[in-house]
Amino acid sequence: MTSKQLRQKFLDFWKSKEHVIVPGASLIPENDPTVLFTTAGMHPLVPYLMGEKHPAGVRLANCQKCIRTSDIDEVGDTTHHTFFEMLGNWSLGDYFKKQAIEMSLEFLISPDWLGLDKNRLAVSVFAGDKDAPFDHEAYDIWKSLGLPEQRIAKLPKKNNWWGQAGLTGPCGPDTEMFYWVGDLKKIPDSFNDDSPFWVEIWNDVFMQYNKKADGIYEPLRQKNVDTGMGLERVLAVINGFDDNYETDLFKNLIFKIEDLSGKKYGDSQKITKAMRIIADHLKAAAFIIGDDKGIGPSNTDQGYVVRRLIRRAIRYGKQLGINQSPWTKEIAKVAAHDYTDVYPELQKNIGQVIEQFKEEEIKFAKTLEQGLREFEKLNSQEKITGQQAFNLYQTYGFPLEITQELALEKNQTVDKSEFKNQLKQHRELSRTASAGMFKAGLADASQAAIKYHTAAHLLLSALRKVLGDHVIQKGSNITAERLRFDFAHKEKMTDEEKRQVENLINQAIKQNLPITCEEMTLNEARAKGAHGIFETKYGEKVKVYTIGDEKLYFSKEICGGPHVKQTGDLGCFKIQKQESSSSGVRRIKAVLE
Ligand code: SER
Repeated sequence: MTSKQLRQKFLDFWKSKEHVIVPGASLIPENDPTVLFTTAGMHPLVPYLMGEKHPAGVRLANCQKCIRTSDIDEVGDTTHHTFFEMLGNWSLGDYFKKQAIEMSLEFLISPDWLGLDKNRLAVSVFAGDKDAPFDHEAYDIWKSLGLPEQRIAKLPKKNNWWGQAGLTGPCGPDTEMFYWVGDLKKIPDSFNDDSPFWVEIWNDVFMQYNKKADGIYEPLRQKNVDTGMGLERVLAVINGFDDNYETDLFKNLIFKIEDLSGKKYGDSQKITKAMRIIADHLKAAAFIIGDDKGIGPSNTDQGYVVRRLIRRAIRYGKQLGINQSPWTKEIAKVAAHDYTDVYPELQKNIGQVIEQFKEEEIKFAKTLEQGLREFEKLNSQEKITGQQAFNLYQTYGFPLEITQELALEKNQTVDKSEFKNQLKQHRELSRTASAGMFKAGLADASQAAIKYHTAAHLLLSALRKVLGDHVIQKGSNITAERLRFDFAHKEKMTDEEKRQVENLINQAIKQNLPITCEEMTLNEARAKGAHGIFETKYGEKVKVYTIGDEKLYFSKEICGGPHVKQTGDLGCFKIQKQESSSSGVRRIKAVLE
């Protein structure tokens, strides 16, 4: 089965179960301060899992491109990836455990769908602890569907609970499905978490709690189902491969790396691992840069992740003896070609990706040799201090992982926590990938973030009124402390323009304008003059948020929400900084005081 067929089968199945197929979202989260990237299909749906009404209804399914950096150390094995696709279906307060599990099983084993072997299946359910009880219901449902009890493992929160990385917000027990990929004759009676032959293929999360900042799990107003199936893994399993890199989602990338290096995948463990890391990292970096809200390499936030991915790939390229220069762009081209039907944005933005890959490669080459020489000077030390790792980072552009990997090769250790302290001291590091994004989590952040989200709408309108209609939003990023807003405009704003924008917004706040939401088709929204650069994000119907009077409004935008009820909640709006973001794009940082 090809990846194209598998995606289609999944979506067709859920369509046949009255689900609406919604388009996937960007890799760069729109209004969520808790994560750098979209890490799961549920992520863009958080407001709806918390009770906002979704315009497409209560049963949804899609295929979502995701980036996860938490597994980066495991990339290089057969199943972990930085970029992956998640097939998912959701019930927003509609069906719950029984139907969810029944339908999952049907999709997996019915000959009309995946036709997998039920004898190779095992599942796990939540064992229960002080916060929430044993998931008896899920256990009984699996039993009633004929799963032998030895194949229904009861596991603790570490395994069978899902919420965003331990943060606050919607969460709950889950049931995970595993498939035996080893010899059927050797299949054990019971499921064993440690065996690499049991591959996790699907996760049904029963979101029935909201974790609050005080650690209390309160029942959610609406009980949801959130499922996630890793496309790469399932494709491998169906085709009988024990390595995801053998599927069509990686094959051409590997061929290209073989071409460039003159080495053969599978010739040695070292070669295989290097090729996997290169394919994974450069695909991921290409997708981040090639997103419609693309972000290039830099030393902060998402840009730092892109830099780390490209540079790490280059290092492994060296190990394989790739000596053309620049070469990384060749991998990006293959990815863009392979994914052109599913994610046309990568092909559309490939010029940008190629440029950025080239530039980063040249930059890194310049500093790498020097940095390696510096590193050699530390040869006699058992431990690389945080200060030394930081110098390598700052002066030679060595991401921490590279220093760690070089150290490992020489049996040296690196003082990682001191490195992070150094980093913190040198710049406001509240938001880097490694430091964890938002300590208090979504629920705490959400009130402040919602205000900033409304402020972003006011800002777009005010900028258009002051600077002209050419101003369109190019992206936004919100934390509980500030709003960052990118928009198309060539010149630096004058002080007078800044003052006018602030004044307009603060007047709107003083007038305490109401914020209302209406659902309509995209065409109706356009006819009403609504703005929205994410027009294709949702299904048929869209939500339109109006600030002010229905006709004489201050702002009208297509948007998923949520927003505050009236502008008077916002406080005083202040532009703290403006700068150039990229060519033709300005960036504003603003706060509500
Ligand atoms: N959110 C869950 C996961 O990522 C199910 O989609 O596993």
